[in-house]
Amino acid sequence: MTGMGRIPALGVNVDHVATVRQARRAPVPDPVAAAVLAELAGADGITVHLREDRRHIQDRDVEVLRRTVKTRLNLEMAATDEMVRIALELRPDQVTLVPEKRAELTTEGGLDVVRERAATAAAIRALHEGGVPVFLFVDPDPAQLDASRELGASGVEIHTGTYCDAREPTLVVRELGRVRDATSHALGLGLEVHAGHGLDYQNVGPVAAIPGVAELNIGHSIVARAVLVGLERAVAEMAGRIRAAVL
Ligand code: PXP
Repeated sequence: MTGMGRIPALGVNVDHVATVRQARRAPVPDPVAAAVLAELAGADGITVHLREDRRHIQDRDVEVLRRTVKTRLNLEMAATDEMVRIALELRPDQVTLVPEKRAELTTEGGLDVVRERAATAAAIRALHEGGVPVFLFVDPDPAQLDASRELGASGVEIHTGTYCDAREPTLVVRELGRVRDATSHALGLGLEVHAGHGLDYQNVGPVAAIPGVAELNIGHSIVARAVLVGLERAVAEMAGRIRAAVL
């Protein structure tokens, strides 16, 4: 999902459209319809996380999205045998490997590629043999980036959650600096750099402005605004914030 020039591509995560549907085990709202609207409003890609517990996105959703997404489909998943099998059947445009814990509300931290080298390497190898580029969702930590490179990942998605959670101005500056340093470190290793988690309309600008960030994956803040103002407006406003930060 490499962006035009220096403007990062916007990957819209539609998981929480499915969260609303699953709250009533109803047929609507459909994340597939949301993906169509997001693309019409300027999304460069659609992201979904097929979780082991199927709490929001279902197998049917990824199958239909694979056939209907006109931009690019980014499948977030754990590095398990089941998910690798699904991804190899589905052939998304890219996979982003994420850690997964059953009790968490959302993905809590980056992958520990250093400790889980073998399982991560096996998933990367299998997916690459199937022609699927693989990105690793990691904290802005040089050791994780070095390990990602050693394992042959196509790139990384840098976890922006700590930056987004920071409130105290010096902390915000420090955490943004970690994301910026991690981006240049990863680019120096030849990795493509994506970023995401916790990004919203207020905090996205400084991350979008980091040179070399090719893609931003954003879900909750867009879907939350969409409930009130509509999805097309919510996506277009986010795309506008990203553009404004760069131009
Ligand atoms: N990137 C990754 C790897 C994620 O796991 C998530 C959450 O599913 C996101 C981005 C999007 O995070 P948010 O919903 O906070 O925008």
